[in-house]
Amino acid sequence: MEDNKVIFSGMRPTGRLHLGNYLGALQNWVGLQDEYSCIYAAVDVHALTTITSGDEVHEIRPNIREMLIDWLAAGLDPQRSILFVQSHVPEVLTLSALLSMVTPLGWLMRVPTFKDRVRQMSETEDSVSYGLVGYPVLQTADIILYKATAVPVGEDQVPHLELAREIVRRFNNTFGDTFPEPQVKLTEVPSIVGLDGQHKMSKSLDNHIELASDPEETSKRVLTAFTDPQRMRRTDPGRPSVCNVYSLHKVFDPANLDAIYEECTTATRGCVDCKRQLADGINDYLAEMRERRRELEERPDYVTEVLLDGAKRAKVIAKATIDEVTEKMGLGIPPLN
Ligand code: TRP
Ligand code: SF4
Repeated sequence: MEDNKVIFSGMRPTGRLHLGNYLGALQNWVGLQDEYSCIYAAVDVHALTTITSGDEVHEIRPNIREMLIDWLAAGLDPQRSILFVQSHVPEVLTLSALLSMVTPLGWLMRVPTFKDRVRQMSETEDSVSYGLVGYPVLQTADIILYKATAVPVGEDQVPHLELAREIVRRFNNTFGDTFPEPQVKLTEVPSIVGLDGQHKMSKSLDNHIELASDPEETSKRVLTAFTDPQRMRRTDPGRPSVCNVYSLHKVFDPANLDAIYEECTTATRGCVDCKRQLADGINDYLAEMRERRRELEERPDYVTEVLLDGAKRAKVIAKATIDEVTEKMGLGIPPLN
């Protein structure tokens, strides 16, 4: 274990996770526990940056629970890592407000995820919330509240991490050396395409396979997957290079890859059989995780205990950082002289 490295990462609580979440992030988080002290947060305040109605907030807590069960089932270990909910350690909001004083608005307006979001929602200036603009400041606060030195994220989060580093530099220059500059620890993953064969696997596009779904449901969904669009008839040779099912076989059935390629391109393999085989591969891969989920579902208090304990441990670190920061910024309990 490298003592001097602290890993932090966060995930918005979207509920049950899917294969894309697992292969793109969670699997990596699990592995990092062997080498580093890790802190992982369900970032519920970040979830609030995109709500459009009060009803949506009722989903946040159940979503956290479902996500946590997936975390634990996948192998995040509350003995070794700190697993907690962002809002349970409200010190992060204090730090975010303080960091906002050294964050130029121009930096935030130039963040690509922010620009995309504004375009996507075709928002007028009045509906872009202050919270949405400040999203990366809160994310920076998440990371540096725990003085994390490395942050495992996907490519899409790199601009946020660059901003975090700039905020840290500015803070350190202004108020004295306080925070380490967090390094990006890029998660190298084949991008997992959804069942539609077009977009990244995502819950909102409903092209996903939940870790928690049962084998029948999994098979049913895999059978709906798009394959090589030019393969109309069973006798047409297929093109694995453009087939999404093939790309999933790479992950779940690597041993048979050559045979699949050969049989597809010579039309000796049908797509339906090919998908059935993929579904079996996925179901084998997830069997153990699903078993652990069933056990966790039988202990509803356990998830709560894990999160309370995680928050307690996180708070100790958070408090120390806030004391240091308020002192350096001239705030906090007097001596008023
Ligand atoms: N913005 C990240 C995402 O959308 C989630 C996140 C919030 C995060 N705080 C973080 C990731 C801190 C890494 C570190 O995926
Ligand atoms: Fe894709 Fe398999 Fe059909 Fe080939 S046989 S096109 S790899 S689903």
